[in-house]
Amino acid sequence: MSEIESVLHEDRRFPPPAEFQRQARLSSPAEYEALYRESIDDPEAFWGRVARELPWMKPFERVLDWSNKPFARWFTGGKLNASAVCLDQHLAGARADARAIVWEGEPGDVRTLTYRELHAEVCRFANVLKSRGVQKGDRVAIYMPMIPELAMAVLACARIGAAHSVVFGGFSAQALRDRIEDGGCSAVITADGGWRRGSVLALKPEVDTAVDGIPSVHTVLVVRRTENEVAWTPGRDVWYHELAPKVSADCPPEPMEAEDLLFLLYTSGSTGKPKGIVHTTGGYLVGTYLTTRYVFDLRDDDVYWCTADVGWITGHSYIVYGPLANGATVVMYEGAPTTPHPGRFWELCAKHGVTVFYTAPTAIRTFMRLGEEHPAKHDLSKLRLLGTVGEAINPEAWMWYHRVIGAERCPIVDTWWQTETGAIMLTPLPGVTATKPGSATRPFFGVDAAILDERGNELPANQGGLMCIRKPWPSMLRGIWGDDKRFVDTYWSTVPGVYFAGDGARRDEDGYFWIMGRVDDVINVSGHRLSTMEVESALVSHPKVCEAAVVARPDDLTGQAIAAFVTVGGGVAIDDALRSELGEHVATEIGKLARPKEIRFTDALPKTRSGKIMRRLLRDIAAGVETVGDTSTIEDYSVLAKLRGDEA
Ligand code: PRX
Repeated sequence: MSEIESVLHEDRRFPPPAEFQRQARLSSPAEYEALYRESIDDPEAFWGRVARELPWMKPFERVLDWSNKPFARWFTGGKLNASAVCLDQHLAGARADARAIVWEGEPGDVRTLTYRELHAEVCRFANVLKSRGVQKGDRVAIYMPMIPELAMAVLACARIGAAHSVVFGGFSAQALRDRIEDGGCSAVITADGGWRRGSVLALKPEVDTAVDGIPSVHTVLVVRRTENEVAWTPGRDVWYHELAPKVSADCPPEPMEAEDLLFLLYTSGSTGKPKGIVHTTGGYLVGTYLTTRYVFDLRDDDVYWCTADVGWITGHSYIVYGPLANGATVVMYEGAPTTPHPGRFWELCAKHGVTVFYTAPTAIRTFMRLGEEHPAKHDLSKLRLLGTVGEAINPEAWMWYHRVIGAERCPIVDTWWQTETGAIMLTPLPGVTATKPGSATRPFFGVDAAILDERGNELPANQGGLMCIRKPWPSMLRGIWGDDKRFVDTYWSTVPGVYFAGDGARRDEDGYFWIMGRVDDVINVSGHRLSTMEVESALVSHPKVCEAAVVARPDDLTGQAIAAFVTVGGGVAIDDALRSELGEHVATEIGKLARPKEIRFTDALPKTRSGKIMRRLLRDIAAGVETVGDTSTIEDYSVLAKLRGDEA
């Protein structure tokens, strides 16, 4: 079951550009090897040294306690505060007046906050929470648009020792309610609305429905952004702008144990209710601090933009905690990538002088489809480093990103990690690693990554298997909120005693990792186990195809058959000739075995708000059964309706 055949072949290699390498934090392969060796052979020495770079309120006594496997404890005895790590430590020196956040709203309004200003705002926000009775140990749900107050709310919770549970602003009231109830949240921070695709997306009505009848919620704190009418429950609902002037801008950070809860973040499993992933304070900060520093090679004059929403782990780790712990200048944008025009992202890069840019493959494919003329209108010459995250990037999209956005001058860091891992796990180091399009390359420091079968045997090069991590790492999840058994069953039981990420992958002869997607997405055609991602990559390499999703469908003859859902470029005629052309293309790229039995054309694919294709839904559609699973994360229900209708 664990062996997966890999059919993707990619021979291109891109060494770090000399210009980049000259000024990179890490540029010597020998230095990298030595550090990596130490991080694996003596992780306690390595992580202890890194952790001491952070400002502790009380030094830790022990680096790692792994005696109660798989429940790790890092930096025990130590005390620190995450908001002090992100803010207070920068106030003593020159960073105090450097820009922490450069924010732009969708309508084009701009706000800049220096570290000093952000610190004052966070203290005020923290005092507002305190004035409403929020205390250390409480959980607070945050349901907000991408405005600076979202980052402030997160840091204000951390400052007073309350855990945040950020729920992405695109989730439905029901999804929000489930998460508030599961986490036992006592307060909700929201806004009247946010700007999305040129209109106001109201948030307060969703919150009203979500908290209705939940006794634990005593406060709904509302930030004013869009000034739309909101319903009001006196006693429970309070305006932030009315309370903020009444509290002081001085709020000492609460000393927290390294293993105190920092936040919950829910992630949907393939089945059943969402899992509240538990992250604690010390290890999470150490992991996000170090990865940000080395993967994005950040320096004081960089302008760094991660396009994710703070509602996802990428936003937690690489908009808020990692970059601010490093004293970086972070760009934050409220709106849609293509509003009001298809070049909006590139306009923002030019306007704010972005030097490091981190986005998702799905966004890159969208821009590819929109055409090169849009980035060409904007000055992207300040960019020096590009990154991707969220799914495997198909080599065509990688090459486009490299050529059109990076002008063949910027290294690309393809970073593989998860909500559960807290920080980047597989990644190139941009001054050291030669990249290969489509590979997240090699493990980060301290990451003992391996491709295993279920018995725990390491598989030979190029054989697909289970993507596992054999040693604990500081930013690892500490559990699933309220469900230890599910934690052990989900992550530590497929290969007993080893963390299994749920992904299939292979490692090539150079030790580079190639993620092949979730193992649930593997298709077994006549006994051959193929990765859906690789068949998708073959389809997308055809010039007429924009996006493709491939799923398994039951088949009498072959056990499972491949069903493909495909979107094509504008003006392409959709007919049987195109169907056979694409089938032929896959057969040539991979082999006859991988030729889809069925190809359906669609305007768009059903995706979660974070851009992941909802394969579970497509599987049901392909199999002709009605969908019963959780669809609370789907971005556009009309897409689903169309796909279903198409079938009738
Ligand atoms: O399947 C992998 C895919 O996204 C999953 C984690 O999703 P999530 O917890 O939402 O976190 C996304 C942001 C870190 C992984 O199990 N994934 C993420 N990054 C990559 C990836 N697959 C291939 N290559 C990547 N760079």
